[in-house]
Order: sequence, then C-alpha cells, then structure tokens
Amino acid sequence: MDALEITGGIALHGDVQISGAKNATLPILAAALLAEEPVSIGNVPHLNDVTTTIALLARMGVEVSMHDGMRLEVDAAGVHDFTAPYELVKTMRASVLVLGPLLGRYGRADVSLPGGCAIGARPVNIHVAGLKAMGAQVEIDGGYIRARGSQLRGARIVLDTVSVTGTENLMMAAVLARGETVIENAAREPEVADLAGFLVAMGANIEGAGTDTIHIQGVERLGAADYRVMPDRIETGTYLVAGAITGGRVRARGTRPDTLDAVLAKLTEAGARIECGEDWIELDMEGQRPSAVDLTTAPYPAFPTDMQAQFCALNAIADGSGAITETIFENRFQHVLEMQRMGADFRIQGHTAFSRGVPALKGAPVMATDLRASASLVLAALVARGTTRVERIYHIDRGYECIEEKLRRLGASIRRIQV
Ligand code: EPZ
Repeated sequence: MDALEITGGIALHGDVQISGAKNATLPILAAALLAEEPVSIGNVPHLNDVTTTIALLARMGVEVSMHDGMRLEVDAAGVHDFTAPYELVKTMRASVLVLGPLLGRYGRADVSLPGGCAIGARPVNIHVAGLKAMGAQVEIDGGYIRARGSQLRGARIVLDTVSVTGTENLMMAAVLARGETVIENAAREPEVADLAGFLVAMGANIEGAGTDTIHIQGVERLGAADYRVMPDRIETGTYLVAGAITGGRVRARGTRPDTLDAVLAKLTEAGARIECGEDWIELDMEGQRPSAVDLTTAPYPAFPTDMQAQFCALNAIADGSGAITETIFENRFQHVLEMQRMGADFRIQGHTAFSRGVPALKGAPVMATDLRASASLVLAALVARGTTRVERIYHIDRGYECIEEKLRRLGASIRRIQV
C-alpha cells in the first residue's frame, strides 16, 4: 500500500499549476449521458474518482476516449445498461450523480445507495424527494435506488437542506422534462454553475445556476458540446495553506480567485499577504508564523467544509487559540485525532475543534481517513519537525492530481513509498 513520507521544516516557494475541479468533472461526466451526440470535455484532472466515473460510464455502454492528456471525448449513443452497481458506488458515492441523467433521458435508473463514509451518513433523501416531485416512481430496494419515469414533468422543488449533488441531480433530471422546473434553496457552489454551463452548451435552457433559485425549461434533446472544466478551488486553497503553514510564498496558477473569497479572507486574517490576478493567486507569509483563526463552515459562498481540515492543520501550529466549527458533516474531525499524535493541542466540543497553537509539531506515522483529512495531514507534515509517514493515501489520490510532484516543485521533501 502506498504512503507519503514527508520531512518537514522547509518553507515552500514557487508556482503550482491548478488542475480541473474534481467536483465539477464528476457531475459533468454524468451529464454526458444526456447527449445524443459525442461531447468533448477539457481540463479533466487525472484522479482516481475520474477513473472510477469513466469505468461506471463505460459499463453502461458509454464510449470514453482520452486525448492529449486532459481532454475526454464521450459518446453516450450506445448506452444499454442503466445500473450503477454497489461495487463501484461503494468506492465513490458521487456515482449517485448518474441517477438524474439516466432517469431524465432513459426513464430508468438502478443506482446503489452510496452508503455512509468516514465523514457522515451521506443520505440521498433530497435527491429522491425531488425526483418524485417530477413524477418519477422511486423505491429503495435491496440497497438500490430504483427509479422509473418515462416522461418527467417540471416541478417546483424546495430543498430541505442545501445539497450540492442533490441540486445537480435534479438539474440534470429536469433538462429533458416537460415544462419548467424551479429548484429553490439550491446549492450555489461554483461547480453547480459549471455543470449548468456544460448543460447549456449541450442545448439545455437553465437560468439562475450559482444562485439559490434555478429555473430549468425542459427541451427535446441535448446534443454535442465542447467544454472546459473549471479549475479546482479546493486544490487551490490546499496549496495556499501549504504556503501559509510553512511560512513561504506560493503562487497558484490557472485558478479562479473569485471562487475563493471566504478562504482568502481567512488566510489574510491568519497574516498572509494575498495578491490576485485574472487567473492566479499569490500568498506570501514573509517568513511569519500564521495567527490562529476562528471559522464556521457553511454552504457557498461561506467557508467551504472541504477546506476545514486544512485550516485545522494551520491552526495547530498558529500563534494563539482558534475555534473551527463544522456545520455540514457530522463527523469531519478525524484528522484532529491524528494531528494530536503529532503534538497538536486540540479539544473537540460538539461540532467545534478548539485549538491552542504549538510552536512545533513532531513527525509521526499517521493515517488518512478521508480525502481532505489526508490533505491536512500532509500539510501538518510539511511543517512538523522530522519525518512523517501518511498512510492510506489512496484517499488523497482520489482528489489531488500528482500531489507529491506538485509539492516537490514547491521545495517540499516528499516521496511516495510502499508500506
Ligand atoms: C458535495 O457532496 C461534494 N462532493 C463534497 O466534497 C462537499 O463536501 C459537499 O458537497 C458539501 O459542500 C461532490 O460534489 C462530488 P451535500 P454532497 O449533499 O453533494 C445533507 C470532497 O471532499 N444531505 O451538499 O454529497 C448531507 O448529509 C467532497 O470533495 C441530506 O440530508 O454533499 C450534508 O449534511 C466531500 N440529504 C449536507 O446535506 C440529501 O439527500 C450537505 O451535503 C443530501 C444531502
């Protein structure tokens, strides 16, 4: 099994090229099921979750080919299977994103329930309720969501909770439905807007994506499109925190500063000097130790839950006390337990991780439990004294393209080993 071995204490300096967004690529690949002609998708990151999604689509009969490294040609003309099996879905719960397009175009879908994961129960009741509102028959049977509906009809749907993939699934189901669908209390994440951009490029009629109310007018068919996935804002934030935690200077290139306002505000509060251009962000700590920050995660545009673990690592060695409150997922502090093994001073009370910054962490063998937790342990290891071995890094390979190469290019002492 792979692990990452990191020797800390080096201030990172230099440029890092940001890859396409995982959480935009996954729904966009699912949406390709809706097209009656081949589509071309650019800036696709090389991630295990993308490989898993391609395998899922191929199993259904979709033809996927890779061109010049980052561009996928996807042809859904030959779809003959409408199932997302447990053995695939259990490795990646985002497979649930094929539910909306399969139902919307083919009138049927049998998708394994995603099941929970390390960070929470991850229910899909919002997805199911919305599809039923559009006229689908949906049952949970034998661990599968079995959905049927030959012609969905537009509906006004108010989401009980802001759900990113819930919004995305319902938007994809609505684009070929009869009439207008209005999704209220919709997720405003930039990846939702990116998916809408792809759907519109294929001929869909969508207004309001990126706001909390999305209007979708059903159309007859969707056709060819040539689209480029947006940059990954969470990857960007992770590398900026790598610069902040090590007291260095890091410039993230090929990114979108407008999608990171809440994160940049917190990095500024932590003492970083931030400069932004059209498609780049530079963070300079000027050799200073960061100051601890308080933050609360919430749906976009508030502070993203996917950056919470990274800021726990920052607070662990920051000057002063901090309080980080997680309001989205019920069990997303497992990285804190591992950081405590490195000497971090945290106290978890309810949904808040209270920290007192320590002058130094000590390298130790630690274990990743989920994608962003594993990234936070890498960040802690970059600043810890001595060597840290981060195990179970298959989690990290799901969401970070070539992390050791990108960090090495910034000066980190990091290598992948077999354990
Ligand atoms: C998406 O997950 C992201 N994944 C997650 O990123 C991200 O953390 C999350 O949104 C929140 O921003 C992808 O986009 C592939 P939700 P999603 O539905 O859609 C509750 C990463 O690290 N809920 O927005 O599954 C749910 O329990 C991953 O890249 C229901 O109650 O999350 C949670 O408390 C981790 N019923 C809240 O809503 C439902 O039917 C938000 O979850 C659906 C969700």
